[in-house]
Amino acid sequence: MNKPQRDITLRFLAEPQDVNFGGKVHGGAVMKWIDLAAYACAAGWSGKYCVTAYAGGIRFVAPIHVGSLVEVEAKVIYTGTSSMHIALEVVACDPKSLNRRLTTHCIVIMVAMDENGQKVEIPTWTPKTDKDKAQHKTAVKLMEMRKKIGEEMEIFVE
Ligand SMILES: CC(C)(COP(=O)(O)OP(=O)(O)OC[C@H]1O[C@@H](n2cnc3c(N)ncnc32)[C@H](O)[C@@H]1OP(=O)(O)O)[C@@H](O)C(=O)NCCC(=O)NCCS
Repeated sequence: MNKPQRDITLRFLAEPQDVNFGGKVHGGAVMKWIDLAAYACAAGWSGKYCVTAYAGGIRFVAPIHVGSLVEVEAKVIYTGTSSMHIALEVVACDPKSLNRRLTTHCIVIMVAMDENGQKVEIPTWTPKTDKDKAQHKTAVKLMEMRKKIGEEMEIFVE
């Protein structure tokens, strides 16, 4: 396997097929791009097929216009035994002005699988810069918070 790759950026134009009833890009289309980027990032880190275990904290900051140049940036911020926590940002701009702005951000957790569909160990990512260390620490804190939210949400599961 090649050296694990920590981050990846998908880059493409928002197409007319992605439009919602208000003329902007559909939130569902943005979520699909996020899932694709998270998969590519997790596969690049682990060298394995991966599945989405969790997606959350999604914040749609600004709309994306059809015809925009979209960049979906994904990077590993924490690794467990089989899981990779991935921070994602979607930035967009008019391809003529290249004035990039943040439109969406969230966290996705992917789990690496072996050929038999069983979770499998992945390489450990160790934060090095101060920013990486701070994001890693926050990822750990979020895990604790997610546990509490999960328990509260049990009430909605029939
Ligand atoms: C994700 C999945 C493999 C986890 O299986 P599981 O039997 O719950 O396995 P575990 O509880 O041992 O969890 C495996 C890892 O996933 C993490 N995980 C599982 N559910 C999670 C959740 N809801 N939120 C965050 N992390 C989660 C665990 O913390 C663990 O991480 P670690 O190995 O780094 O410690 C399983 O729930 C699944 O197959 N879900 C469906 C996936 C899917 O279809 N996705 C959409 C299409 S790709």
